[in-house]
Amino acid sequence: MARACVVGAGMTHFGVHDKPLEELFAEAALSAIHDAGVDGDEIDSLYFGNAMGGITENDTHLAPKLASYLGLQGIPCQRFEDACATSSNAFKHAVQSVEAGVHDVVLVGGAERCTPETGLDTKEMTRTFASASHRTYEQPLGLTFPGVFALLTKRHMYEYGTTEEQLAEVAVKNHDHGRYNPRAHFGGQVDVAEVLDSPIVADPFHLMDCCPFSDGASAVIVVSDELAESFRGEPVDVTGVGHRTDTVPIADKNAPVETTAAKEAATEAYEQAGISADNIDFAEVHDCFTGAEVIAIEALGLVPEGEGGPVTKRGETHLSGEMPVNPSGGLKAKGHPIGATGTAQIVELTEQLRGEVGERQVPDATKAVAHNLGGDTATAVVTVMEAGQ
Ligand code: COA
Repeated sequence: MARACVVGAGMTHFGVHDKPLEELFAEAALSAIHDAGVDGDEIDSLYFGNAMGGITENDTHLAPKLASYLGLQGIPCQRFEDACATSSNAFKHAVQSVEAGVHDVVLVGGAERCTPETGLDTKEMTRTFASASHRTYEQPLGLTFPGVFALLTKRHMYEYGTTEEQLAEVAVKNHDHGRYNPRAHFGGQVDVAEVLDSPIVADPFHLMDCCPFSDGASAVIVVSDELAESFRGEPVDVTGVGHRTDTVPIADKNAPVETTAAKEAATEAYEQAGISADNIDFAEVHDCFTGAEVIAIEALGLVPEGEGGPVTKRGETHLSGEMPVNPSGGLKAKGHPIGATGTAQIVELTEQLRGEVGERQVPDATKAVAHNLGGDTATAVVTVMEAGQ
């Protein structure tokens, strides 16, 4: 079976954009195409992720529209929707299609607009995002996504003694990393006191514990390893992609705070790659809220269960620490245009493993993991990538 690699990566700045979705996606896609040195007529499929465009922009059937905008009309195209794990799931399918020999060169990515540029303010966008929670049991109760992750985090605090200060350290670290990422929504240093003094959004989360609403797009070119040498872009191997789901609604999950889907997806990805968590040099994880990062690094096996908070406070997950987490700034500082987030993590892994990211470079990194959650942790896609041999 062929092995998949990424030979091109590109993304827009994450933040506030007044461009339509097709322009945003084209910017990311053309950047990935240029990076790979691939010709348009070599691309034989488009796997595209957008989660909310049908609601936020009355824009559906996006895959062929975007292919046409890029001059790729005619090739098979498909759109994916898995809440915040939308484009990592598109990426998984692209990888599998290349490994199966169905396609040789796939353009995969995502785009989303979530800021008031869509015409929807914070209240309306929060309600739109809540469409990913259970229609019968959760939406009528007013459960929002800050609320979902606040429930999980409160439970983590109860079980392991995790503190608000430890959570705030996640925000401090990721904003610090964001300073070195020119494509991040937020850089700039913040301290623990600023996080704890910011307004409460959903207890225990203050405003500074939350990711922002962002616009943006990301894209990568996935090819078979047999073809990789024929492109300009330095190949980075995709050695494992695990994908699992968990029960919805949240109240029916067996072990909500362990994020079972993420744990199982990580096991699957590590098995495919033939490695364990001990071999990982850095991680990009789904830190939509600070508590989500603490839970994620435990689910990935990067730190022992219950130790996510103390490990973060000790600085071990900082760029300068033993296990850097979210060198890009993560969702917290880089931003979270939901349908673009999954492949943006793949862009960061690719560029880091090539040694291209300057001041936020993780030294000597050869193996990395990306962790992307959808909905109330009901979808998890975990990807292992390794520097090309
Ligand atoms: N992190 C850091 N700063 C933020 C921020 C965030 N998440 N969100 C907004 N800000 C800043 C703004 O830049 C602005 O700064 P300024 O006054 O210097 O210009 C200020 O805070 C107020 O911004 P505003 O947009 O009015 O905030 P808001 O109250 O409307 O929204 C949140 C703030 C945290 C409620 C909103 O960003 C949010 O709901 N985030 C979570 C999104 C989400 O649920 N995603 C899905 C995850 S699964």
